[in-house]
Amino acid sequence: MEKMINLTINNIPVEIEESKTVLEAAKKVGIDIPTLCYLKGINEIGACRVCVVEVNGANALGAACVLTVAEGMNIQTNTKKVRDSRRATMELILSTRNRECLTCFRNTNCELQTLADELNIKDVPFEGEPMEFTYDDEGTSIVRDQSKCVLCGRCVSACKQVQSTGILDFTNRGINTRIATAFDLSLKDTPCINCGNCVSVCPVAALTEKPDMERVWKALEDPEMHVIVQTAPAVRAGLGEEFGLPVGTRVTGKMVTALKHLGFDKVADTVFGADLTIMEEGYELLERIKKGEKGPLLTSCCPAWVSFCEFHHPEFIGNLSSAKSPQQMFGAMAKSYYAEKHGISKDKIFVTSVMPCTAKKYEAARSELSVDGHADVDCVITTKELAKMIKEARIDFKSLDNTATFDEDVLGIKSGAGVIFGTTGGVMEAALRTVADILEGKDLEKIEYTQIRGLEAVKEATITLGEKTIKVAAVHGSAEASKLLEKIKKGEADYDFIEIMACSGGCVAGAGQPQVSAKEKMALDLRMDRAKALYDEDESKVIRKSHQNPNIQALYKDYLGDPLSDKAHKLLHTHYTKREKFPVE
Ligand code: SF4
Ligand code: SF4
Ligand code: SF4
Ligand code: FES
Repeated sequence: MEKMINLTINNIPVEIEESKTVLEAAKKVGIDIPTLCYLKGINEIGACRVCVVEVNGANALGAACVLTVAEGMNIQTNTKKVRDSRRATMELILSTRNRECLTCFRNTNCELQTLADELNIKDVPFEGEPMEFTYDDEGTSIVRDQSKCVLCGRCVSACKQVQSTGILDFTNRGINTRIATAFDLSLKDTPCINCGNCVSVCPVAALTEKPDMERVWKALEDPEMHVIVQTAPAVRAGLGEEFGLPVGTRVTGKMVTALKHLGFDKVADTVFGADLTIMEEGYELLERIKKGEKGPLLTSCCPAWVSFCEFHHPEFIGNLSSAKSPQQMFGAMAKSYYAEKHGISKDKIFVTSVMPCTAKKYEAARSELSVDGHADVDCVITTKELAKMIKEARIDFKSLDNTATFDEDVLGIKSGAGVIFGTTGGVMEAALRTVADILEGKDLEKIEYTQIRGLEAVKEATITLGEKTIKVAAVHGSAEASKLLEKIKKGEADYDFIEIMACSGGCVAGAGQPQVSAKEKMALDLRMDRAKALYDEDESKVIRKSHQNPNIQALYKDYLGDPLSDKAHKLLHTHYTKREKFPVE
C-alpha cells in the first residue's frame, strides 16, 4: 500500500498518497485551483503556471499540477501573491492572442474565456508585438488557428500518446514558441489521421472541426433536393450536453424532433448502416474462417484508424475489412435502394451525416467511398455543429418531446447491435451476435459479450462457436493498436478478428462530441456515462441482432441478394492503399 502523507491546504488537513500532486490533494478537500495546460493523464507538464500556489518555506510559487505532496507541507491557494501571479500570467497569455470571442467557434465554451472570467481579468494592460500566425483550413476535417493558441501543449501530448502520430510539436523558443507540424506543412500534407484528438483536448479554438453547416442550410433551402439526415449512435448520447443536460442523457427523441424542425425530408439512424456493416463484415469473417486464412480480420469502420493503417502499418491493409463503414453504407443505400423505391433521382438526394467524429468528414470525401462517381455522403457535420444549427434555428431543445422516433422507412428499422457501435468493443460485440448465430445455426440466447466491454486498452475474448474457437480483441487509441499489431508481427499474439477505434473510449468520445473542460474531465469519465446510454438503448430493443432486422432482411431479399454478392460488393465494399507519410520530392 502506498505511503500516506499529511499536509494542510488553506489550513485544512489532507491525508493523501505520497505520489499525488497538490492539485489532487486540493481537489480531495474541495479546494478549486485553476488550471490551463493540465489535462489529467495526458498533459502534466507544468507549462502555463496558472495553477500556482504558495508553499511554506519556499520563495517561488509552485505549480500545483506538477508539485508532489510532501509531509508537513503547508499550502496557500488564495493569497494576494497567488492571485496577482495568476492574473499576470493570464494577461501575458492574452496580450499576444486573438481575443475575438464573439465570433469564435468556442464562444461560451472556452476554457480560456472561463478562466479570464474566474480570475477577474478586466483589462489586458500590455499589448504584445503583432505576430504572424498559421491559419490552416486546407484539409477536410480540422482547422488550425494558431492566433488563438495558448501553447498549453495538450494537442502535442494527445497526438503523441493516444495516436502515436506525433504530427504536432513545439518549435522555436521564448516569445517565438509555437505549435507546428513538420516543415510547417498543412495538416492535409502530413500523416495526420484526422482523428481530432487534438481538437478534443484543446482548451480554446486554436483547433476545431472544419464547419460545414452552411452547406446543410443551403441544401435544406433547395426545394429540388430531397435532404436525408442520418445520425450516428454516439450523437444521441452526447448532444444533450450542449443544452445543459447531464452527461449520459439519451436524447434520441428530442434530436429527431429538432431535425424535423430544421426541415430534413427524412430523419434516419446510421444504426441501419451499422446493421448492414455487420452483415457484410460478419460474412467476410465467416469466409476467412471457412478458408482458414491466416491473420486477423481488422475492422475498418473508423476512418482515422484506416488512415493510420495506410500510413503506419501498410503491411496490414490486406487484413482490413473491405466493408464500408455504417455512414458510407447508409449513404450508398440512400442513393440506390431508397432512391429507386421512392422514384427519386440520386442527383436530387443530399445525404447529410451527423457524426461524433472529425475523421468522418475526411471519410465522406474519399473518392474510394463513392459509387460511379456519386459520393455516398454529401456532407458531414459534428454533434457540436448540429447543436449550433439547433440554437441558430431558435429551437428550444430541452422542451422537445423525447419520444419521437426515426422515420420508419425502408432504411428505418435497426437493431440494438448497431446502437452499441458507438463505444469501444461495440462493433465486435455486434459482429459476434451475428457470426455466433450463423456458426451455431440457431438463434442463440446469448446476446451480450461483456468480456469486450469497458475501457481497458486491449480487451480480449476466446469464444467457442459450434466447432470453431475464435479469438477476438477490441482496442482503442492508435498507439495501443500499433503495439498490438507489432506483437502480431512478432508472433507474440494471434487473433481472428480485431476491432480498432482511434479514439480512446470509441466514438462516444470522438472529437465532434461536446467539448468537455479539463476540470470536468478530472471529475468524471464521460466515456462510460455516454456508453451506458447506448448499452441501455440496446437492452431496451426487441431486435438486438443485425441479421434479425426485418429491413435488412428485406434489403437482401429485394435488392442485394446475399451478403458479399456482386451487387453488395459494388455498393458496399471498398479498398485501401498504402500512403506516403510525407510528400515524396
Ligand atoms: S487530428 Fe489526430 S493525428 Fe491529426 S494532429 Fe490531431 S491528434 Fe494528431
Ligand atoms: S493548439 Fe490548443 S491544445 Fe495545442 S497548444 Fe495550442 S491551445 Fe494548446
Ligand atoms: S473512434 Fe469513432 S469518433 Fe473516433 S475517429 Fe474513429 S470513427 Fe471517429
Ligand atoms: S502549470 Fe499547472 S495547469 Fe499549467
